[in-house]
Amino acid sequence: MSERLTAPGEQDDDEPTHHTFRPRRLDEFIGQKEICDQMRVFIQAAQQREEPLDHTLLVGPKGLGKTTLAEIAANEMGVGFTRAIGSNIERLELTSILSGLNQGGSQSGSVLFIDEIHRVNQRTQEILYPAMEDYFLDVVIGQGGPGARPVRLAFGSFTLIGATTREGLLTGPLRDRFGIRLRLDFYSKEELVQIVQRDAALFQIRVEEKGAAEIAKRARGTPRIAKRYLRRIRDFADTLGDGIVTYDLARDALDRLGVDSIGLDETDRRIMYSIIERGGYASLNTIASAVSEDARTIEDVYEPFLIQIGFLSKTPRGRSLTPQAYVHLGEPPPESPESNQLF
Ligand code: ADE
Repeated sequence: MSERLTAPGEQDDDEPTHHTFRPRRLDEFIGQKEICDQMRVFIQAAQQREEPLDHTLLVGPKGLGKTTLAEIAANEMGVGFTRAIGSNIERLELTSILSGLNQGGSQSGSVLFIDEIHRVNQRTQEILYPAMEDYFLDVVIGQGGPGARPVRLAFGSFTLIGATTREGLLTGPLRDRFGIRLRLDFYSKEELVQIVQRDAALFQIRVEEKGAAEIAKRARGTPRIAKRYLRRIRDFADTLGDGIVTYDLARDALDRLGVDSIGLDETDRRIMYSIIERGGYASLNTIASAVSEDARTIEDVYEPFLIQIGFLSKTPRGRSLTPQAYVHLGEPPPESPESNQLF
């Protein structure tokens, strides 16, 4: 991987030193088996034909490994890797990134990874279309006025890997230009146990099987969360215990961190109570102001898991909770309009 571009203000959730421990090959990647199997085929086929990998769209909630898979794709293809963030990228910057692709070690087929690609603004997207299709850019040279002239800049083949939490927000023309679309799902508990154990071995943290299982159970199907909990629990193990992450230690530490038995945290609970306190239905914006969180964060980070575990649903009247959610919180469900009508 030749290059790493991170826009100002952008911080990966993983601490920088941990990048080195991310899996670098598909064989090291745990979970998402169908996606890995498909990627293996597409990468091998592209290599056999000596073509770049087709443009690829990775869809799924945050923290499931979209960036890691993009890095792995570049690594498996043996090409350079450049990263940009959709929300920050402007036309000029994208032009300069595209014209700088393939200038490192690899002559063609570099991977350009754009995170949150649904947030690339329309004007910038327009540069991407000819770039993705024919690997050229139309730029104007000169300061405007009579001296200015349009120039077509060819920069060699590349693979755009776009990541998005919200495929529905991509414009049609952009989405249609991705030949490969892969959807990542939450991880099983068994997969998360393996991911915790892998990290524990890499960081030389002693974790008992039941300790790893407890972290996995509360990590909301998300490797990034499991890894973060492992690091925090290690702090408890080192200071309050004998350095070993046992079941009891993991459970006590997660309780102290405000993470409940199924992985819900304080914000999840506040979201759910904001709905209960409004009689069982609340709009996204109402919830956001009630819990002082950005509506987009609620939609991208909190809701997908609450929906996945069957606690929250989006209805025409607003967000509502399911009976399981009321049971989990120990709250009586509201009287439904249907039952009022019946009795
Ligand atoms: N680190 C983050 N996600 C991972 C995964 N799916 N497999 C192995 N290590 C990981």
